[in-house]
Amino acid sequence: MGKLRTAFVCQQCGMTATKWLGRCPDCDSWNSFAEELVDKADGVEAARTAPRFSATGKPVAYDDVTTEGALRTTSGLEEFDRVLGGGIVQGSLVLLGGDPGIGKSTLLLQVAAQMAKDGATVVYVSGEESERQIKLRGERLAIHPKGLLLYSETELDRILPELHRLTPSLVVVDSVQTAHSSRFSSAPGSITQVREVAAELLYYAKSSATPVFLIGHVNKEGNIAGPKALEHMVDTVLYFEGERHHSHRVVRAVKNRYGAAGELGVFEMTGGGLAPVANPSGLFLSERPENAPGSVVVCSLEGTRPLLLEIQALVATSSFGYPRRVALGFDANRLSLLLAVLEKRAQLALSGEDVYVNVAGGLTVSEPVADLGVVAAVASSFRGRAVDSRTVFLGEVGLAGEVRPASQLPLRIKEISRLGFRRVLVPAGNCPVPDAPPELDISGLKSVEQLLDVIF
Ligand code: TYD
Ligand code: MG
Repeated sequence: MGKLRTAFVCQQCGMTATKWLGRCPDCDSWNSFAEELVDKADGVEAARTAPRFSATGKPVAYDDVTTEGALRTTSGLEEFDRVLGGGIVQGSLVLLGGDPGIGKSTLLLQVAAQMAKDGATVVYVSGEESERQIKLRGERLAIHPKGLLLYSETELDRILPELHRLTPSLVVVDSVQTAHSSRFSSAPGSITQVREVAAELLYYAKSSATPVFLIGHVNKEGNIAGPKALEHMVDTVLYFEGERHHSHRVVRAVKNRYGAAGELGVFEMTGGGLAPVANPSGLFLSERPENAPGSVVVCSLEGTRPLLLEIQALVATSSFGYPRRVALGFDANRLSLLLAVLEKRAQLALSGEDVYVNVAGGLTVSEPVADLGVVAAVASSFRGRAVDSRTVFLGEVGLAGEVRPASQLPLRIKEISRLGFRRVLVPAGNCPVPDAPPELDISGLKSVEQLLDVIF
């Protein structure tokens, strides 16, 4: 037997080195190298089993390609279909990530049960729980899936033949980090294994047109543990967002080859599993304090869905020389920028004040359209005067203090009027808004100074 060869592999990005390194030169993560066995055969094997999606093995004329493979089926959970872009696509590989205990296994067991309730074969492979444990969860969910098969197995070389034999209409693998193949000598959960397992399942999904859901663990930073390559490989990446301490759960599509990225679904964790929330804007606004300074409502477009959210700001005199700026659910750099604009363009003396901004409900807003709301919330808290609680703020703020036009305004206005708001402040560039409901008072704003005149 030849000498065993080992290599050091970065568990974040997959970079290989011949010796241990404290910091990965490729992705800059610290202490991410682990020693892995490299089999000479690994490379050959990988080349041999490298995913082949082509049905014929030859180039095909564009006109001859049929799109039947992209058929969608409903998952039985409308909110989940929405996140996926309208249902489960045949042959798609979907990765679902999220903190431990947030509800990944629950969600996919519910989806599996819905698909299997009319007798269609669905295989739920678990490397984390026994069949008995999964059934106990199922009993809480009160599901009666006729065609659901539970399979507690971690060895990919036993899982794949079973899948080929059963030809299921959906496969769930809980989790991709626990599945491993003995053909690769590195440890289960290591980057090489995770990547190979995902590649094999990708090949299986594409060649058999079976949708496959992978559950992925997240690391300390909140990324899916293992290679970033995993996210490139799959068709759709879904994340559970928000806090475990709230009963609501938000599932967001961060990448989707079959739908809008950024799309989100809102669920509530109940005693009987995850229940869809029919009116998410209503939920996020439900705990809003009446006439409190620093609380304003904005409308953010998440994927294709307009969502009304409450932004809260608290401005308090700093007791240190260096004032604190804290943003939860909002980009901290963007907050600093907006504070500078307020200071310079609207003469608000914020340099000696601590500023805290929070998006209520544990959600993250990345759209710049929330700027105007943040500016209004900070000004309102600074002046100690509440803004009218029936007003919604929309618009991006530029460095000159100008208010820039927002996209898809009619869609947002529709949601705002549906929730019974009276007034909307929008960028002047968006006025007049087409098809605006007559009962809504819409005013256009040009600058931050004008905003302060209007609200106070
Ligand atoms: P789980 O799906 O096991 O989380 P993950 O797979 O992401 O680690 O969910 C576990 C949590 O959900 C657990 O804290 C209990 C809670 N839960 C409910 O509140 N109601 C339910 O019906 C179920 C099944 C779980
Ligand atoms: Mg789980």
